[in-house]
Amino acid sequence: MIAFTAAEIAEITNGRLDADPGITPLSVVTDSRDATPGSLYVAKPGEHADGHDFVAAAFSAGAHLALLERPVADADGNGYPSVLVPDAVLAMGALAAEAVRRIRAARAEQGSELTVVGITGSAGKTTTKDLLAGILSTQGQTVAPQGSYNGEVGVPLTVFRAGTDTRYLVIEMGATGIGHIRYLADMVRPDIGVVLAVGTAHAGEFGGVANIALAKGELVEALAADGTAIINLDDDRVAAMRSRTEAKVLGFSAEGRAGAAVQALNPDTNADGNPEFDLQLPDGEGGLHVSSRLIGAHHMGNLLAAAGAAWAAGVPGQDIAFSLSSQTAASRWRMERTERADGVTIINDAYNANPESMRAALRTLADLGRGRRTWAVLGAMLELGDDSIREHTAVGTQVVRLNISRLLVVGREARALYVSAVQEGSWGDECLFAETVDEAYDVLNAELEPGDLVLFKSSNSVGLRHLGDRIALPPLTPQSADERSTLL
Ligand SMILES: Nc1ncnc2c1ncn2[C@@H]1O[C@H](COP(=O)(O)OP(=O)(O)O)[C@@H](O)[C@H]1O
Ligand SMILES: [Mg+2]
Repeated sequence: MIAFTAAEIAEITNGRLDADPGITPLSVVTDSRDATPGSLYVAKPGEHADGHDFVAAAFSAGAHLALLERPVADADGNGYPSVLVPDAVLAMGALAAEAVRRIRAARAEQGSELTVVGITGSAGKTTTKDLLAGILSTQGQTVAPQGSYNGEVGVPLTVFRAGTDTRYLVIEMGATGIGHIRYLADMVRPDIGVVLAVGTAHAGEFGGVANIALAKGELVEALAADGTAIINLDDDRVAAMRSRTEAKVLGFSAEGRAGAAVQALNPDTNADGNPEFDLQLPDGEGGLHVSSRLIGAHHMGNLLAAAGAAWAAGVPGQDIAFSLSSQTAASRWRMERTERADGVTIINDAYNANPESMRAALRTLADLGRGRRTWAVLGAMLELGDDSIREHTAVGTQVVRLNISRLLVVGREARALYVSAVQEGSWGDECLFAETVDEAYDVLNAELEPGDLVLFKSSNSVGLRHLGDRIALPPLTPQSADERSTLL
């Protein structure tokens, strides 16, 4: 991390310094449990807890300085070394923006560069971020978000992990409203901006898909003329963003769209559902076969986006193709495949769900499941607002049309999905509804048979990823249940 003195932090954030600790912070944390000796602890008011209640804990874990919105005193009534600001999250943003400026300046002085890549879209951001970071780290020091950090707190935390030795900084950018991406783009000033897709994710909060397109396009609007916009030509709303940027535009397409500089030629998925294609780059370099280890045809676009961004950052085509062919899913619960000893295959994609990723996962289940009994274990897609019933109904219909063998719908919020599948399909007991995850567990434990292929998919907070993890353990027999209870 860039070394800021407490006085500089106060100046950059327009804050008031109380009790200068006299040393520069080594890390920035927003959770007191992550604090280590030398941390700057940012106390922000959260949804569930107020960070100001944990200042003492952060200092006892070694924090040297706190960024606070109101003064906090210890048991003896003494204040902690702190910078007092009106808004801790905005202060983090200001500090992150200054960190990026200093890294660029320091590197320019050394005769080297920092390349910042921003990635946004309704689905595939984290996957593309991981793929791109995988490629770039073969070329130079790369900093990318942990997990899915992509907001007004996650982006600064990622920036603070970068230093003057950082060659590439990859930033995932999420948005739940107009102006959010602009805020993040102004903070990190990307050289390369990737827009994956404009879907219905969070359509409720945004007030419609047109607004989502408006918001995601803020990334390409923020690019300078010497920057590069990597846009998905397979999505018409993204393709239309070419007119919203001064930067050079590189379109990518997995569907052979005219004008795509980055293309997947001869695209296919193999028997394991892994996408394969010949990568075509803007310089026309050929012979770049990519055989990905990710699961699902929908990843083709993410692979192309990562390839396009890496190419724009100067990575040779051979290195791009080689890296894309060797990487497996870097984050958990994304089309994560487990083979159980008894021949049941589990695909756990329940990190998150929106209509696009739900459709993509179900198509992959149908593809992979030829000749096998397929199960879709599905929970609600949250945050869809007024579109919720319609979107769940559409998924129920899709499950029937794809000839998925068994459907298990979990939780009341997903009931419309169950109802529509029943209406569409005149199913018997192939279509089941469970109120709770535990009920679903009992159903699966009783019914799964060797050879079954089971997909788990829902929004994060529904918790089906943990159900998938439990089902991935060896099945419970009355005897093993006994053994487990004696072990506990
Ligand atoms: N291009 C795509 N179209 C549809 N679904 C996708 C696409 N890319 C990824 N997904 C699915 O969306 C879910 C979230 O993927 P992730 O990479 O974490 O995206 P994000 O960070 O944008 O939420 C996963 O289930 C993944 O398989
Ligand atoms: Mg993400």
